[in-house]
Amino acid sequence: MRKQIIQVAMVSAVIFLLSSCGFDPKKPGRVYMPDMTYSNALETYSPSDIPNEDGYMVSTRKPVKGTIPRGWIPADERIRTNESFLASYMAKNYYIHDAAYWDEEYAKAASTIKDPLEYTDENKAAGKKLYSIHCINCHGAAGNGQGNLVVLEDGSDGPYTAVPPDYKKRLPEIKDGNIFYSVSYGKGMMGGYGYSLSVTERWQIIHYIKSIAGIEGDDNGTGAKAADTKADAAKDAKKGA
Ligand code: HEC
Repeated sequence: MRKQIIQVAMVSAVIFLLSSCGFDPKKPGRVYMPDMTYSNALETYSPSDIPNEDGYMVSTRKPVKGTIPRGWIPADERIRTNESFLASYMAKNYYIHDAAYWDEEYAKAASTIKDPLEYTDENKAAGKKLYSIHCINCHGAAGNGQGNLVVLEDGSDGPYTAVPPDYKKRLPEIKDGNIFYSVSYGKGMMGGYGYSLSVTERWQIIHYIKSIAGIEGDDNGTGAKAADTKADAAKDAKKGA
């Protein structure tokens, strides 16, 4: 009797499993929970009947202007309540194809974006490390624009055709906000690093490149001598943001 029950159970299980098979390989068989198989929500980058801001028929929408990604506002009250420090947290991951807009924003950044990071040996050392990973191949160890993508070891031209400026010449001409802007969004032939480096990491690199250009300190006047920028840096690093 027990054997029979097991046999019946096995046959029923096989029939049950086979009932979900279909003949058309492109279609799923019987769907147990259609809501889970056919999502009502739009998939990322899927076509959409409603055009987005640029007129493209895709589901993806841009963040509302001035949006700050969650978790990007530093805990420090002095940064949180200071518009020009906050601007450096907003300048991230927002791109539109309009050169005039970027020129204008670049010019504005001189006064709207301030360096929220304290000048410390640790920040500079962290910047040096990041510089040697992300920037040195074009800008060179000395920051003179002679990296090994620009000039080969034997002195001949490298594969990269644009020549980065010498930091000693260029950095004194522009403000911290402009430097931050260029590092975040790119400039000319240089790509932006807003996607791969956190706000803190970008400022750390800026501290370092200013030091190799012989400039000490920020151009905020007062500077944000924030006690917990270190904690923010650690948080940023942990998120890999
Ligand atoms: C692929 C080569 C390349 C890499 C990598 C690169 N840069 Fe550049 N960088 C350039 C070029 C070329 C320019 C000149 C752009 C222009 O003015 O048209 C430039 C310009 C700059 C400027 C001057 C911007 C201004 O507003 O005038 C800064 C600052 C700078 N780079 C920082 C960095 C930092 C920091 C990194 C690493 C995170 C980096 N660059 C990585 C090629 C590069």
